[in-house]
Amino acid sequence: MATYPPGFLEDLKSRISVSDIVGRKVKLVRRGRELVGLSPFNSEKTPSFTVNDFKGFFHCFSSGEHGDIFSFLIKTEGLSFPEAVEAVAEIAGVDVPKASIEEIKQAERSKGLLEAVAAAAHFFETQLNMPVGKQAAEYLRRRGLKEETIRRFRLGYAPVDRLALLAALRREGISDEVAVEAGLARRGDDGSVYGYFKDRVIFTISDGQGKPIGFGARSLGQEQPKYLNSPDNPLFHKGETLYGLDLAREPAHKSGEMIVVEGYMDVIALAEAGFANTVAPLGTAITEGQIKRLWRIVAAPTLCLDGDAAGQKAARRTALRAVPILEPGRTLKFALLDQGRDPDDLIRQEGPAVLREALNKSASLIDTVFEDACAEIDVTLPENRAAIDKKLHDLARSVSDETVRHYVRDAFRERLSGAFRVVPVLEQNRFRKAPGGQQKTARILPRPKAPIAAVGQGLREARVLYGCCTRPDVAEGFAERLALLDFHDLEMNRLRAHLVAAFSGKTTIDEVGLRASLKEAGLDRALRQMDLAIRRRPSALLGDAVDAAQWLELSISEIEQSDADRSLRARAQVIDSEDDVAAEAISSEKAARYHSFDEK
Ligand code: UTP
Ligand code: MN
Repeated sequence: MATYPPGFLEDLKSRISVSDIVGRKVKLVRRGRELVGLSPFNSEKTPSFTVNDFKGFFHCFSSGEHGDIFSFLIKTEGLSFPEAVEAVAEIAGVDVPKASIEEIKQAERSKGLLEAVAAAAHFFETQLNMPVGKQAAEYLRRRGLKEETIRRFRLGYAPVDRLALLAALRREGISDEVAVEAGLARRGDDGSVYGYFKDRVIFTISDGQGKPIGFGARSLGQEQPKYLNSPDNPLFHKGETLYGLDLAREPAHKSGEMIVVEGYMDVIALAEAGFANTVAPLGTAITEGQIKRLWRIVAAPTLCLDGDAAGQKAARRTALRAVPILEPGRTLKFALLDQGRDPDDLIRQEGPAVLREALNKSASLIDTVFEDACAEIDVTLPENRAAIDKKLHDLARSVSDETVRHYVRDAFRERLSGAFRVVPVLEQNRFRKAPGGQQKTARILPRPKAPIAAVGQGLREARVLYGCCTRPDVAEGFAERLALLDFHDLEMNRLRAHLVAAFSGKTTIDEVGLRASLKEAGLDRALRQMDLAIRRRPSALLGDAVDAAQWLELSISEIEQSDADRSLRARAQVIDSEDDVAAEAISSEKAARYHSFDEK
C-alpha cells in the first residue's frame, strides 16, 4: 500500500463528499439526512442503497456492502487503493503527494506524541484530586462546575512543581525529548527540561475521536496570560482543532445544530446547561479548516460570540472568511449576545432560555456580510452605493462554487436594490395620520440608512423604539399607531407600551427625561437591548440627514406591513384548504398592495 503524508487521506475525504463520488454512478435522491438510490451492486427496483455524507460512508442494504469514497471506487470500478486515491484527488483538484521518508518517520513519531499527551492528561486529572490540586478544584467548584462535568471534559491541574509531570512521564517510559516535542515541556537555555504549564487549571483538548492532543491552561488568579495553550506541534494544530468536538459531534448531528463559542469555559457552561452541541476554536480566529469541519456535521453552525466589540468584529470576519468557501446548502448563522457578556455569563445570570432566544434570533451569513458592507455608510448617496456594490460584487466573485456564486450575487443585488424603495399609492392613507398630516401622493423616498430587506424583526422593533426615545417630540404624533402594534420581542413590547403611556401624558418630555422615567419603570434592560441592537447596526441609526417624522413613518409602517403580510399569509393558508379562489384573491390583494416592497 502506498504511503501518503499524514493527514492527506483525511484531508481528501473532507474535500469530497461521498455523494460527489457515488453520484457519478448512482442517481441519488435525498431522504432526511441520507441520500438513497438503486444499489450499484445488485439490480433492484426499490432503492436500498444509502449514502451518508455527514458520516462519510455508503451502505447497501441489499448486498451488505459498506465503505467510504475509496472503497466505493475499488468495489464499483475495480480500482486499486492508490488508483482510487488518484481518482478522488483528481476530482478534488489536488495533487497526490508521496510521503517522504521524513514524513513516514514523522507519522511514527506522532504515535509517540499521542501516548505522551494521553499520559499527561491522565497526570493532570489525578493532580486535581490530590492535596496539591485543592485550590484548583475549589476554583472550578466556585465557577459552578459539577464533578461529572470535570470528569467528562477531563479537566485537571498542572502543579507548581514543573518537574512533577516529567517524572510521571518517565515512569511511563516517555522521554523528556518526546515531552518537549509534544509541547508538554520546554528546554531551557541551560539544557534543563521543565513542564510547560505551572499552577494552572488544565483543559484537555482532544481530536475528533476523543484522543488528547494538547491542553489549554487557565491561571487561577490574575496571572497573565489568563490562558496558555500547548504550542503547535506535529500532533496539535490550533487552526485545525475545535475544543469539545469529540463530545459535541453526536448531539450536534442529532439536533442538526452546532453552536460555536469563543472560550473553553463557554463550551463547558453550555454543555452543563443542556447545549452539549457546542465547540470553540482555541483562542484564535475561526479558520477555513474549522468551518469546513463544522460543515461536515451540520449545514449551518451558529456562531455565538461574546457581546463585545471584539466578538462582533470576529463574527464579521468569520462571515467574510466563509463566503469564498461556501458550498451548496452550507452556511453560517450569527447570534450576538448582550454587551460585555459571554455565553457562560449569560447562562449563569439569566438561564438557558435567554441563550435559546439569542440562538433563535441569529442573523444569516448574507445579512451579516451585507450589514458589514453598509455599516456606517450613507447608502442614499449613489457614490457610496457604487462602492458597496463593487465590494459585494468582488466578494460574490470570490465564491469558488459556481452555483453558490450565482445565488450569492443575486442575494447581494436584491439587498442593494432594497436600498431605495417606492411607497405604493395604496399605502398613502397611512400618511394622513402623520404629523403635519397633509395628503401625500406616492413618491420615491430615500430609504432610511439600513435597507429593510437586511433588517430582522427584532431590529425593526428596536429601531422604532429608538426613534421614539431619541425624538419624543416627534414620536408623540405616532402614539396611536404605536399603541396598535404588538412587538414580538417581549422586552421591546414592554418598552413600547410604556412609551405609548408616556406619549399620552399631558406634557411633552425630552429625551433625557424620557429615558430616566423608563429606567425608573424598570425598563433598564429593555433600553440596553434596544441601544445594543442599534449600535450593532449603526447603518440603522437615525442620522441627522434624515427627517425624524419621515424616518418614524417608514420604520413604523415597516412593522405594520410585516404584520399585515403575516395575517394575510395566515388567512391565505386557512382558506387555501377550503377555497383556492379566495386564497388567490387574497394573494393578489397582497401583491397589489405590496408590489413594490421587497419580500422579507
Ligand atoms: P476569554 O478571555 O473570553 O476567556 O477568552 P473565557 O473563555 O471567557 O474565560 P474565563 O471565563 O475568563 O475563564 C476566550 C478564549 O480565548 C483564548 C482561550 O481559548 C479562551 O477560552 N485565550 C484567552 C487565550 O488563548 N489566551 C488568553 O490569554 C486569553
Ligand atoms: Mn468567560
